Amino acid sequence: MRAALVLLFVVGVMTDVVHAQAPAQRAVLVTGASSGIGRKITESLATSGYFVYAGARKDADIRELSAIPNVQGIKLDVTVPADIAAAVETVRKAGRGLYGLVNNAGVAVISPLIEVDEEDMRYQMDINVMGPYRVTKAFAPLIIASKGRIVTTGSLSGFLSGMLSGPYSMSKFAVEAYTDALAAEMARFGVRVSVIEPGNYGSDIGKGILARRAARGQTTEGSLFKQEMDGFFGRADNTADPSPDDVAQAALHALGDATPRIRYMVVPAEAQARVTIQGAITRLAQLNQGQKFQYSRDSLVAMLDRAIARAATPR
Ligand SMILES: NC(=O)c1ccc[n+]([C@@H]2O[C@H](COP(=O)([O-])OP(=O)(O)OC[C@H]3O[C@@H](n4cnc5c(N)ncnc54)[C@H](OP(=O)(O)O)[C@@H]3O)[C@@H](O)[C@H]2O)c1
Repeated sequence: MRAALVLLFVVGVMTDVVHAQAPAQRAVLVTGASSGIGRKITESLATSGYFVYAGARKDADIRELSAIPNVQGIKLDVTVPADIAAAVETVRKAGRGLYGLVNNAGVAVISPLIEVDEEDMRYQMDINVMGPYRVTKAFAPLIIASKGRIVTTGSLSGFLSGMLSGPYSMSKFAVEAYTDALAAEMARFGVRVSVIEPGNYGSDIGKGILARRAARGQTTEGSLFKQEMDGFFGRADNTADPSPDDVAQAALHALGDATPRIRYMVVPAEAQARVTIQGAITRLAQLNQGQKFQYSRDSLVAMLDRAIARAATPR
């Protein structure tokens, strides 16, 4: 009897040790995992101990992603409700739950606003804006059940808008509004929401812009902005830009840190941070200028001081 009790105790201790050594593996879904930033986030999460459901559209990409340890490729076009419903089923049936969602899938349409056709505009919004909305809505019950995390890939273009970037910037400004509202709504469930704002990193997004234009037979001939468009498209291929390792590190922080930030600006060069912060300040000054209750410089500085203190305080 006594020997049996000792054995039970030993087994109990061993079980505790096994549990301590192997905490439940957290599962994260990454959309747009086939290339660029999504691929890097997928790899970084998988090597950091997460189990990753890696969303992709092409069978070859799904197979390639599934060959990475701790990764399961999953068919997921964020514009196809049936894909999203099937992905929810797959994740549910696997029984791991879902701790994190990274809404990363995105495309860019670069065109003057008075020339861009409606189909391109819909395509832009369908993927970059409706995509995160659809996927988050579908997976929200699982994320809430695990008091998990939701991260969306925004952009510096969520703060900067200018000639030719209208469609893309409109979509990324929407991601900023989406993030603020979602963060406020999810807080009561213990779910933390973040947005990552990458600067210019190497990916296939530029090649995608050129490929779509070619497939749709679009040229710059006859455009009122021909010179600017030719200049942009001549430099559109961004595959040689720095690898997005720092973006993946930000995603790891947003998913794994006890006090994730709401916004992570991650840039490979200081000038990109400067122009973005300057752009946000410019908009603030424009908003204040000439309004009935226009605030003085001192009041604005005091507001900025308080905002800086709040941003530095863990949520
Ligand atoms: N690279 C940068 O410098 C940069 C800067 C700021 C923000 N971003 C943002 O980062 C995110 C990733 O872009 P990236 O630069 O890494 O470009 P990328 O290499 O072209 O990756 C885009 C990903 O989105 C996927 N995708 C496109 N349409 C989709 C759809 N309908 N449903 C599901 N997935 C779809 C692509 O899949 P397919 O292979 O099947 O097309 C690919 O996996 C985007 O949100 C982008 O706006 C990038």
